[in-house]
Amino acid sequence: MNDIQVELKTEDLRQVLADALVVNLFQGVTAPGGATGAADQALGGRISQAIAGGGLKGRLGETLVLYGTDAQGLACPRVVVVGLGKAADFGQEAARRAAGAAAKAARQAGARHLATVAHGAGIGGLSPELAAQATVEGTLLGLYRFDAYKSKRSKTAAGEGAGAAGGSEERADAETALDTNGSAVGQVSRLTLVGHDAGQAAALAAGLRAGEAVAAGVTLARDLANHPANVATPAYLADVAGQIARRHGLRLEVWDRARIIAERMGALASVAAGSPLEPRYLILEHAPPGTEGQAPLVMAGKAVTFDTGGISLKPGLRMGMMKMDMAGGAAVLGAMESVGRLGLGRRVIGLVGATENMPSGTATRPGDIVTARNGTTIEILNTDAEGRLVLADVLAHAADLKPAAVVDLATLTGAINIALGPGAAGLFSNDDALAEALRQAGDRSGERLWRLPIWDEPYGKLIESDVADIKNTADSSPAPAGAIFGAKFLERFVSYPWAHLDIAAMAWGGDRLAYNPKGATGFGVRLLLDWLRGA
Ligand code: BES
Ligand code: MN
Ligand code: ZN
Repeated sequence: MNDIQVELKTEDLRQVLADALVVNLFQGVTAPGGATGAADQALGGRISQAIAGGGLKGRLGETLVLYGTDAQGLACPRVVVVGLGKAADFGQEAARRAAGAAAKAARQAGARHLATVAHGAGIGGLSPELAAQATVEGTLLGLYRFDAYKSKRSKTAAGEGAGAAGGSEERADAETALDTNGSAVGQVSRLTLVGHDAGQAAALAAGLRAGEAVAAGVTLARDLANHPANVATPAYLADVAGQIARRHGLRLEVWDRARIIAERMGALASVAAGSPLEPRYLILEHAPPGTEGQAPLVMAGKAVTFDTGGISLKPGLRMGMMKMDMAGGAAVLGAMESVGRLGLGRRVIGLVGATENMPSGTATRPGDIVTARNGTTIEILNTDAEGRLVLADVLAHAADLKPAAVVDLATLTGAINIALGPGAAGLFSNDDALAEALRQAGDRSGERLWRLPIWDEPYGKLIESDVADIKNTADSSPAPAGAIFGAKFLERFVSYPWAHLDIAAMAWGGDRLAYNPKGATGFGVRLLLDWLRGA
């Protein structure tokens, strides 16, 4: 969990006391105005000189760090100028990326207490609330680190460059910056959002609060997916769900293997059959007083805590990455954490199907036929297509909740990576209004979705089995429309407005974006919160 203390101050920029002050610059601006202009003036034109000298263009995410600024009329000893890119391309996502880049530059420069303006509230054209939210999200997410398994010695050695000032102090501090859930946030322990206009304070505070709540959910989701499978087991996910429930007064139900079988969840049970670790089915409900009778918005997550492929064993190369195959479930838990923090005035339910997929003498065999909760019989031709088996029973159970809508998230197919790569998650839906609402939430949150078809003609035929109602994979490889196959399969288990998000290519990655670290991205939490808050 993020342990950065976040606060709002309405104060003259020159008076703000922190280790580093972040201001911004749009590309092409040569005479900065607003907060940046004020800082430039106090600094005797150091920022405009850097621009004139070609050292600062304002490209998105570009940073310039100025030192010794406390000798020039500012209280802060460092100023970070971050580029916002072209004004025409600017929006919430650019603000998020800029904030992430600035925070990292400030940390690199040795800052432990950051102060920042809300990017884009001025000529950027964002509302103060959205500017504040995006800035806080980008900053907190950019500072995220996962070093739960780094011993203190190597953590110190691997600590980021100590910058010009205060190096030894920061090293000592890095050793204690680890929190209980395993995410360390480096040296930064405090973030001050600076407003200059008292009239905007309420809006900035609301944005700050939302940004903090969303970032906490993303952090929780990242931690879960980053923890290895010998730690983040189905029982561990149930424990974390219990912590979320207790923190925010949510209702939690946990089903173990016996209950899952008794509830006729034969598809989920068939995936769990190969593992000595018990599966868990989690039902986490947020229903503030007065909303108990509402048709809930439901989020459903695939949480395969490790996917070996089962008897249809995966090749060894990079199999270790399959500890992230619970990222859909992690996003659901992260979103419930954010929902709880925000105290959303709406009934929301998170469902998580958690199990390992292991080969063993008790594992399901290719060719086996199982019966899902809704009575559908499934011929399992490939035990590596297990996510759809897990979700089949989760989606069938979701009908019992009489939902207004259900959104499932799953690292379901390698095929979605072939189709869309890291640009967007696949969106599949039986409801145009829901699909459009999610797509818009994706654009705003920077977690983009691209819709793919699930037409019965020609795709309905894909899942037909010779011996059972449906089969879980094609019997050729590589088969066409692999991601659509998965969605058509899931569609058999829904009876309400539904959307399926295939996040296999988005949940794990490199540090291409300033606010994403290597490893788990926490994809889906920002998107879900944007959707839930607007629905
Ligand atoms: N968990 C995988 C999908 C995946 C692949 C997630 C890469 C993240 C990165 C899923 O369970 C799987 O193995 N899918 C198979 C389905 C196939 C057997 C029809 C796949 O995509 O190869
Ligand atoms: Mn698999
Ligand atoms: Zn899987």
